[in-house]
Amino acid sequence: MLIKDFANQRSVICVPKSKVYVTRELPERGLKIIKKHFDAEVWPEYAPPPKKVIIEKVKNVDALASLLSDIIDAEVFNAAPKLKIVAQMAVGYDNINVQEATKRGIYVTNTPEVLTDTTADFAWCLLMAVARRIVEADKYVRTGQWKVGWLPSMLQGRDVYGATIGIVGAGRIGFAVAKRATGFNMKILFYDVVPRPEMEKELGAKRVDLDTLFRESDFVSIHVPLMKETHHLVNAEKLRLMKKTAYLINNSRGPVVDEKALHQALKEGRLTGAGLDVFEQEPTPVDNPLLKLDNVVVAPHISSASYETRSKMAEMVAENLVAFFEGKKPPNLVNPEVMKVRPLSKQF
Ligand code: GLV
Repeated sequence: MLIKDFANQRSVICVPKSKVYVTRELPERGLKIIKKHFDAEVWPEYAPPPKKVIIEKVKNVDALASLLSDIIDAEVFNAAPKLKIVAQMAVGYDNINVQEATKRGIYVTNTPEVLTDTTADFAWCLLMAVARRIVEADKYVRTGQWKVGWLPSMLQGRDVYGATIGIVGAGRIGFAVAKRATGFNMKILFYDVVPRPEMEKELGAKRVDLDTLFRESDFVSIHVPLMKETHHLVNAEKLRLMKKTAYLINNSRGPVVDEKALHQALKEGRLTGAGLDVFEQEPTPVDNPLLKLDNVVVAPHISSASYETRSKMAEMVAENLVAFFEGKKPPNLVNPEVMKVRPLSKQF
């Protein structure tokens, strides 16, 4: 675009900024960078934009900054002739059809590593809370049920220290959860489709098959991505293998666990409790029968929700976008094969 620079009496070339649609108000640290480098529009509401809004907004943008609650599929890509990159603020990206993106030369990025420890801490929050009945105890005190001073049988839970924890999916987050278990003198079992020698060497964990893990663990903690292969990985059959005294913890993705089967198992006393930060449908309906059970501790998908981590995640979204438009490989590219379809080139 040719612009007249009146002060210096000359015409200058001015490259318009690339357009980004941001599907939610991101933490300031990331949004500031995005607004500085791009012509950014941000969906202003608390609830996610309806799909038809996303489809309308992508018509004219070069980039999309998405969250895991946005469905970014072929229908969205078909409406977005200029779209070159989707930068997601999450480590998981099962909401994005990466294969369809790659076919169209659209780069997809995520935000790994910065959230590993925060997410691992939260798996432990759920584990400790359900094993030691923290939520029930809190309610007990607040609702005036605490009528006798001290009672041997009051709100007994299960010991965490010295118990056996089974980690399903021993990637970065699984490893961090297992590392914390060493501080509780726990026996650590793990299952993964790849060997993960660091689990054995650094943490003294033992790799076992999935059935053995479910059979022998006192706490089963799930840390796999959602894929075709992991959908309902925790089903009625696996739950049947668990000890009656065991607990299930899930802060990966809801559909990895068959909620109906879990509810049935808990109702029949075939396991002692569960800690869930994720659900098959999010937000989970308030009439989800799991919410009626006192031995289930729940949270609204907040495992990475610390101020520090969410800020870092937003910053990573911005860094991925800036790198791409500067013609560099985005640091957290999940579909590197896309570079053959659309080779990198400077766009600023
Ligand atoms: C949260 O669930 C994430 O994938 O970052």
